[in-house]
Amino acid sequence: MGKKVIQISDVHFGDTTFSLALKSNFLAQLEDENPDLLIFAGDLTASGYAHEYEQALEFVDELKSITKTHIVPGNHDARNVGLVHFENMISKRKFVHTDKNSNFTIIGLDSSEADVSHGQIGRDQMDWLKSELAKIPEDRAKVVTFHHHIIPIPQTGRERNILLDSGDLMHILTENGVDFVLNGHKHVPNVWMLNNMVVLNSGTATTGKLRGNGYASYNQIEIKDGEVFVNLVRTENGSKREIAHYSVGLMDESMVIHSYIHKSIHSV
Ligand SMILES: [Fe+2]
Ligand SMILES: [Fe+2]
Repeated sequence: MGKKVIQISDVHFGDTTFSLALKSNFLAQLEDENPDLLIFAGDLTASGYAHEYEQALEFVDELKSITKTHIVPGNHDARNVGLVHFENMISKRKFVHTDKNSNFTIIGLDSSEADVSHGQIGRDQMDWLKSELAKIPEDRAKVVTFHHHIIPIPQTGRERNILLDSGDLMHILTENGVDFVLNGHKHVPNVWMLNNMVVLNSGTATTGKLRGNGYASYNQIEIKDGEVFVNLVRTENGSKREIAHYSVGLMDESMVIHSYIHKSIHSV
């Protein structure tokens, strides 16, 4: 049975470049697509303030009325002690979700640190992640989401936003057969493959906080008959561009990506 997952991030309620028109476009497109699941990879707000979280909550309620929605916080959400509001109004900061009707499990982590742009996962969360990954049967696709970059992303300017403990995290993810890592943060969509693990970044869905020739966008992941397609969707008009295509199957009872095609998003 086919599955459709939407990955968004960096909506930034309260930012001066936040666009109500883009938000409305996104919600209309989401209704049309009718996905099975939505992953929101952080930065709901501009500065973590209560009034921004109130707007974010309204948006999240709309998302939840359309599809099952899972959310992790970003660095902006952790500003000004904002995680208090995140936990009270939005969600727990980490989660495990096993999709009963399909073959994948999603784990969400909090990579934010108070009042700074960089992030880290930390030892306690890594221990928790290891124990949760160990419980997932081999034949399931494993997806992990958190806000910050795990490896450098092209066209993001000066590189200073990779997780402080990304090496240890990458080791845990790849050793435990994680198939997809979903991140946001620098508002630049991107896809990398690392040790048979896909690292997929979403851009900003609803703001003008863009770099170079970027545009407001989000990602759509479609899983059908052992194939996974990733589309970059332009929020302004819903136009789609395929950026990745994977063939997935079982090998020795483990879920593996047999082959893949990536189409470059960036100009060289
Ligand atoms: Fe952001
Ligand atoms: Fe961010």
